[in-house]
Amino acid sequence: MEKKRVGVLISGRGSNLHALIDACQHEPDYPAEIVLVASNNPDAPGLRKAADAGIPTLALNHRTFDSREAFEEALDRHLRKAELDLLCNAGFMRLHTEDFVKSWWNRHLNIHPSLLPAFKGLHTHERVIEAGMTVSGCTVHAVRFEMDSGPIVDQAVVPVLNNDTPDTLAARVLDAEHLLYPHALKLVASGAVTIEDDKIVVNHSEKIESAPYSRA
Ligand code: GRF
Repeated sequence: MEKKRVGVLISGRGSNLHALIDACQHEPDYPAEIVLVASNNPDAPGLRKAADAGIPTLALNHRTFDSREAFEEALDRHLRKAELDLLCNAGFMRLHTEDFVKSWWNRHLNIHPSLLPAFKGLHTHERVIEAGMTVSGCTVHAVRFEMDSGPIVDQAVVPVLNNDTPDTLAARVLDAEHLLYPHALKLVASGAVTIEDDKIVVNHSEKIESAPYSRA
């Protein structure tokens, strides 16, 4: 099977990017390859992770553009030049314009550290603990106009423990993210799931032990 060409957008540390690179480079028959990593933050540590893995990088500082629109038009141009099949946000901390979202419609994934549609936005783990939740988790979803919303490709669940702080919960969720994102990208890149009319359609099962609650 021909591998899907994937671009990854980051703003910082890049631990999810690292998990995706690992799956692409080390998992036999993984259906995707990362061909570009782009960041709005030229100092993002994730850019170095990508370069160390031999992946082309692009640093496009949003501060050097007059507007969000101008930045996203330039970003879109670079991404199109790379002939991507799929685009993955992995800790990309900029809101997208409607035009950008339309440009990558149903080819654009994001990971969020909560069980969406609950706890959209920032300071997720504080709010989960404050709400007295007994479980939390993470979600990979297709990107839509509204932040942290869109058809849910897959989710992973972790417990919230009595003595959790936002930091301990964040670390547990992050470990789950590193399993979930490679799995969810595999589902989409292989065609095991497709996004049709704003619904996720499961075409065939790709069940693996590390994703016990996975939809496929
Ligand atoms: C992750 O928790 C992700 O869910 C959120 O931002 C964080 C990025 O972390 N969108 P990293 O840069 O992948 O380490």
